[in-house]
Amino acid sequence: MGGIEIRGLCKSYEVEGRKLPVLTGIDLRIPEKRITVVLGRSGCGKTTLLRLTGGLEQADAGEIRFAGSHRTAFVFQEPRLMPWLDVRKNILFGLRGRERRESGERVEEILRVVGLERFEKAYPSQLSGGMMQRVALARALAYRPSFIMMDEPFAALDHFTREQMQKELLRVQQAENCSILFVTHSIDEALLLGHKIVIIEKGRVKKEYGIGEAGEERNLLEDRFIGLKRDIIRHLEEESGSAVSIDEQEGTRDRLGGFL
Ligand SMILES: Nc1ncnc2c1ncn2[C@@H]1O[C@H](COP(=O)(O)OP(=O)(O)OP(=O)(O)O)[C@@H](O)[C@H]1O
Ligand SMILES: [Mg+2]
Repeated sequence: MGGIEIRGLCKSYEVEGRKLPVLTGIDLRIPEKRITVVLGRSGCGKTTLLRLTGGLEQADAGEIRFAGSHRTAFVFQEPRLMPWLDVRKNILFGLRGRERRESGERVEEILRVVGLERFEKAYPSQLSGGMMQRVALARALAYRPSFIMMDEPFAALDHFTREQMQKELLRVQQAENCSILFVTHSIDEALLLGHKIVIIEKGRVKKEYGIGEAGEERNLLEDRFIGLKRDIIRHLEEESGSAVSIDEQEGTRDRLGGFL
């Protein structure tokens, strides 16, 4: 089966001469062609997990196994565009030779996918925050990734732009059939986007939910999602030491019937 298999992943940082354990044994399967959302409190290690999985940093222990060959692209909280390059050049930034030529032929198509046709020649300073973030997504897509790692990509956007971007991401994921690992603080965002939601606490996976199949429209006011939200809040609020029992986790899996 495709996707990413993570086993016993550990990572500590050295802070002022002392070892700070951040990830203390992450076991996780990230399915392919789905959106996996990582939720957790500030400082719990979400970004660290994303960076390790995407190969930006080395783990201290454990393994990250990709099924087959893979290409990973990143989208961060801020778009990180080059202000002196227009949209087209930003999208192709970092690509060379044949890859650049091939993606160059796809730029119009990619711009359509992210809803930015007609802006190929614009500069970042002429774009809104939401549009810049779409360029960052387009740049990730131009790389033809099998996996996109997204670290709170919509956190800086206003409510309505964020909603629009969430819808667009769902559309893009469907159109491109890519796999996405998505970090957020927002429970609603997780419920809207995630096929799988993973709660991280104290450097470990505390809880996993399988939510549903790709492509379904979700109404968060449905009882099912309200119940899920309540459950997620309870897990995020719980003090450490009161870890959920396996039985309880299995119960949730049965009830939701999603894939994990
Ligand atoms: N390069 C680093 N050097 C030292 N400590 C680090 C480094 N990167 C992260 N940390 C520490 O690791 C812990 C987890 O950081 P991380 O950025 O993964 O958290 P996060 O869950 O993404 O938080 P947030 O939701 O606020 O973005 C924090 O205590 C942070 O201070
Ligand atoms: Mg972070």
